[in-house]
Amino acid sequence: METVVSGIRSTGNLHLGNYFGALRNFVKMQHTERCFFFIADYHSLTTHPDPNMLHVNVKNVLSEYLAAGLDPEAATIYVQSDVPEVAELSLLLSMHAYVGELERTASFKDKIRKHADNVNIGLLSYPVLMAADILQHRATRVPVGKDQEQHLELTRRFARRFNQLYQVEFFPECQPYTFGGNLVKIPGLDGNGKMGKSEGNGIFLSDTDEAIRKKVMKAVTDSGPTAPDSPMPEVIANLFTLLKAVSTEDTVRHFTNLWNRCEIRYGDLKKQLAEDMIKVVAPIRTRIQDIIGDDAYLSRVVKQGAEKARESSSRTLSDVRRIMGIKPF
Ligand code: TYM
Repeated sequence: METVVSGIRSTGNLHLGNYFGALRNFVKMQHTERCFFFIADYHSLTTHPDPNMLHVNVKNVLSEYLAAGLDPEAATIYVQSDVPEVAELSLLLSMHAYVGELERTASFKDKIRKHADNVNIGLLSYPVLMAADILQHRATRVPVGKDQEQHLELTRRFARRFNQLYQVEFFPECQPYTFGGNLVKIPGLDGNGKMGKSEGNGIFLSDTDEAIRKKVMKAVTDSGPTAPDSPMPEVIANLFTLLKAVSTEDTVRHFTNLWNRCEIRYGDLKKQLAEDMIKVVAPIRTRIQDIIGDDAYLSRVVKQGAEKARESSSRTLSDVRRIMGIKPF
């Protein structure tokens, strides 16, 4: 049995990128592996969210986890900040993480480009805290989207460095994971880049059917293929990537053939895409609405999760302390 860890930041409602890149895999793995899934509220503090909104967002993500099918009896579901051991492990790991390698991380470079006025230490050490999230449970598998690949590479590097330095075989080297093999990058509806929580280009698990139809019909397209079998421009290829995620193989084949024959009508493609997205989103949205008001249930879930996560985390932490030479009198 593998030990699996993954988390999603509490920075807003979850979208189809989070669902196909991460959450759907969480649900698939929970009954066969030893799973820890958390809400990364510490990680969401790097962008200074409104304190009143932080808890609302944690509650949203928790409700979305449960609505998508995570079962608290099968997986350990918890809030990152309910397990303070992770902060100490992050501190200990940071002694062996070098500023240069953190500065070279693509996500850090991207963040300093976008938020030059807020280049805080939390941003720089983001991958160290992420490594602590994973290593505290000594995980071997981490279901994530493509954008997290480099962070996992760093986690493996920190694990290897720790083992070599202290001459132990303590931390396993975790691998990113997705069903089907290739890590997923779900594009946005604006024609470029990936779907993101704050990019204004996403379909959210909480979106109404009407909102989904409106957004999809407004998705960026071009003037259409000019010759049979012409290569697909990125904006159209992105729509097909979305179609592959939500539709049947037959549907994808049908529209691919229309493209190749130069007979595609983008209006029809978008209508189909919207209806197939609705098939994924609508049942989850209905369950979110049922769960989100049940504070007693939500609080039971995270209390039970934090207890189990702390048990696992504190065991690792006391070993790490001992290995590094921190000993009680
Ligand atoms: P976050 O909140 O940015 O993303 C959460 C998960 O959703 C995936 N994802 C996507 N996958 C495919 N296509 C997209 N457009 C898309 N957008 C987001 C991300 O790859 C991720 O799997 N650093 C993590 C949170 C974290 C974590 C961890 C994850 C903190 N500690 C430990 C795994 C293990 C993040 O950025 O989350």
